[in-house]
Amino acid sequence: MGTHRITLTVNRVQEVAEVPSNLTLLDFLRERLALTGTKNGCSTGECGACTVMMNGEPVNSCLVLAVEADGAEILTIEGLAHDGQLDTLQKAFIELTGTQCGFCAPGILISARALLNRNPHPSEAEIRDALRGHLCRCTGYVRIVESIQAAAKAGG
Ligand code: FES
Ligand code: FES
Repeated sequence: MGTHRITLTVNRVQEVAEVPSNLTLLDFLRERLALTGTKNGCSTGECGACTVMMNGEPVNSCLVLAVEADGAEILTIEGLAHDGQLDTLQKAFIELTGTQCGFCAPGILISARALLNRNPHPSEAEIRDALRGHLCRCTGYVRIVESIQAAAKAGG
């Protein structure tokens, strides 16, 4: 199996690595960079737990090869807080109990951030649409939707 040199930006830091052609972006983030906030729920694109932002769009990182991320800008849950401040969404999820066990939360927060970046005032239907592909076994989604609505109200 050949290896490839990739250069990408992860959470505003440039990374250069030699990776095998079959390494997923998810495994690259978790195993090479120790960014274990991004979860592996299914490895098959079904659960959304592995969602990260790639060039501003949410992707299932279990379905993206690390080589495909060459030159990309990646944002993971570890990069959502910035300048010592939690993201508005993280604050809302804490205040409104938008998360229980927390396994789905990193992926959902990334998709929610992408949503609010492109649509600061989404309707409930638009929020639920953005959450398609994210499985949560705990919350029933109501608190998740309410948290995203609160974050939007607080300015995104
Ligand atoms: Fe990628 Fe489930 S781990 S969608
Ligand atoms: Fe447990 Fe969503 S909070 S899976």
